[in-house]
Amino acid sequence: MATMKDIANFAKVSTSTVSHVINNDRYVSPTVREKVELAIKQLNYTPSAIARSLKSNKTFTIGMIVTTSNNPFFSEVVLGVERSCYELGYNLILCQTEGDHQRMLDHIEHLLQKRVDGLLAMCSETQSIPKQIFLKYPKLAIVMMDWTPFSGICDTIKDNSLYGATLATNYLIEQNYKRIACITGPSNNTQAQLRLQGYRNALKAANIAIFADYEAHGNFQFSSGVVAMQQLLDLPITPEAVFCFNDAMAIGAYQTLYQNGLEAGKDIAIIGYDDIEIAQYMTPSLTTIHQPKEELGQLAVETLLNRIQNPKELPHMLTLTPTLVKRFSA
Ligand code: RIB
Repeated sequence: MATMKDIANFAKVSTSTVSHVINNDRYVSPTVREKVELAIKQLNYTPSAIARSLKSNKTFTIGMIVTTSNNPFFSEVVLGVERSCYELGYNLILCQTEGDHQRMLDHIEHLLQKRVDGLLAMCSETQSIPKQIFLKYPKLAIVMMDWTPFSGICDTIKDNSLYGATLATNYLIEQNYKRIACITGPSNNTQAQLRLQGYRNALKAANIAIFADYEAHGNFQFSSGVVAMQQLLDLPITPEAVFCFNDAMAIGAYQTLYQNGLEAGKDIAIIGYDDIEIAQYMTPSLTTIHQPKEELGQLAVETLLNRIQNPKELPHMLTLTPTLVKRFSA
């Protein structure tokens, strides 16, 4: 692999001249520039990212830790993150924890050893980044996405789940449904807690009673939608409509309806949350709450780069507004 010194010797110039041509950070006469560019081509030279990072003390690399990825929501957010990194000249190192706390801590250490310029964390389940990490690495630029267990310690970007859940429940109320149930997310997840509050607030505002056992427990996984929907169907008074706190559980609920010879949208109205890509292709297509997933990813990268350049700014708390997508399941 040719080095800058090889280029300098080949073009009979100094290595600093080669550096100025590569970085285009100082005037170099056209004649000399042409000699250097010819040498680069002839020797098939590729600038060393490691050398560049040693000089600039930046690696132009961002680390991202995701708690789960079998749910399309996360992969669609990562799509926005990676696209934004590419457009802004950064590489992304994506780490998966699958809820394993030690694995998360190991990833953080490895990312720090790789000198990532900043860290994006999308820990939407019980395994969040421990506060100690923020205290141990106070200079590490971190943006928490989607979930904000430590509001005020670092920049956070999240969905307005209280509003989104109110929107979903009010839509069912406007369809004149009275027996409205929900399938919740993990009880220790702030987004799930806010959605439950939004569901309860909307029913209370409309003077609609919440039937006993109409808050079926889910955990955002597909399978929990299957089980929770069956619990609702086994009740003496079955619901007319069900608000699933994410689309993955709505897909599970669809399967249970099918297994019971029932149809979503016809026998029981179903509304989901996230608006993942597949929602529009379900039968019937899923009415849901659209989370701006790619925008979440893009905003997270921009917020992180702003933090890297402005480390002393106070933490930013950004909230994204979800929207109702009416299809045919409710
Ligand atoms: O579908 C996964 C859910 O977990 C999403 O609604 C997202 O908000 C995260 O909290």
